Amino acid sequence: MAAALTIDDLKRQAKRRVPKMFFDYADSGSWTESTYRANESDFSRIKLRQRVLVDMTERSLAGTMIGEPVSMPVALAPTGMTGMQHADGEILAAEAAEAFGVPFTLSTMSICSIEDVALHTRRPFWFQLYVMKDRDFVYNLMDRAKAAKCSALVLTLDLQILGQRHKDLRNGLSAPPKFTPKHMWQMATRPQWCIGMANTHRRHFGNIVGHAKNVTDMSSLSAWTAEQFDAKLSWDDVAWIKDYWGGKLILKGVLDVEDARAAADSGADAIIVSNHGGRQLDGAPSSISMLPSIVEAVGDRMEVHIDGGIRSGQDVLRATALGAKGTYIGRPFLYGLGAGGRDGVTRALDIIAKELDISLALCGKRRLTDVDASILMGNPFRSGQQAENRP
Ligand SMILES: Cc1cc2nc3c(=O)[nH]c(=O)nc-3n(C[C@H](O)[C@H](O)[C@H](O)COP(=O)(O)O)c2cc1C
Repeated sequence: MAAALTIDDLKRQAKRRVPKMFFDYADSGSWTESTYRANESDFSRIKLRQRVLVDMTERSLAGTMIGEPVSMPVALAPTGMTGMQHADGEILAAEAAEAFGVPFTLSTMSICSIEDVALHTRRPFWFQLYVMKDRDFVYNLMDRAKAAKCSALVLTLDLQILGQRHKDLRNGLSAPPKFTPKHMWQMATRPQWCIGMANTHRRHFGNIVGHAKNVTDMSSLSAWTAEQFDAKLSWDDVAWIKDYWGGKLILKGVLDVEDARAAADSGADAIIVSNHGGRQLDGAPSSISMLPSIVEAVGDRMEVHIDGGIRSGQDVLRATALGAKGTYIGRPFLYGLGAGGRDGVTRALDIIAKELDISLALCGKRRLTDVDASILMGNPFRSGQQAENRP
């Protein structure tokens, strides 16, 4: 693990250790992948202001996200099928996040179940909810998350229907994998992955199998999504989910100022400015380019968080300077997990924390909570796009 100095190093290692269909599942966006690419590349348009001869001692990245103390404001984003990047992946990632002092968010579409993760952690984790047509199943998921003492519900708004990812279709993605010659070859060339999988019983969607009624095809994510995800989901549903949950609520997948205002009206505690890591509406703007106008519109009413394209501590610093009170990483921790299990996730967090700490100092700041737009050389996203998106 020590050889990995960047998130990109972890990505290369993961590619060598994870069967192609699952590596591709992480490293893909919808259709032309233009939004997936823009999420990353737009960060480099934001230039940091280098300062000198400022006291750089006793620095701190610590703060809070929705009132919970964090060692740095970088949560692990909910990702489906994480237990296919590495055996018991969700448990290992949750353990790494807990030890690091950052939030872990468990996806509805996880391999390890809510109960599995609760058994292996002491600090409350967050649970991400997809709303299914079967409302009893949704109530039951929330009951299970409450019983597991999850301290926040992350309600995903941007996946009522699934954006097409060509790689998944071409690869015939499923969990557990099919036993065709192509899939057998992909696994046979990743022996360590196979050994891990042979030693765990967690190979299905743990939150769903055995809990959902009338589930006919649980191996194909796209088939199940098309059948079960509720395409009629509306702001009225946010109201009853909020009431039933009764705890902290984070709305994930807001990319538009008008939607951000509706989210603030709903009384949620936070929103995540997100385009699902470029996996849904291809051609949508990058998350970071939409952050300033959304912060301007609702930042005084709720916490505004962001995900999508964060690949370094400098990116976390840029997002913080543009007003994000929290950030999330998806692929960076998945690459760490694929590369080296729990240690790999810790490595991903270490890399980001170190980059963030040193860059903070070189911008002349000692506490991340003191960072604002004054550490930037202007804001490339202040005009144009921002004005166009204002209703
Ligand atoms: C492999 C993968 C699976 C994902 N599964 C989910 C999911 O189950 N629920 C969800 O709300 N978001 C899901 N997402 C989106 C992430 O939560 C997050 O928005 C995105 O990964 C952030 O972009 P980044 O990967 O560039 O950090 C997934 C993303 C990836 C890469």
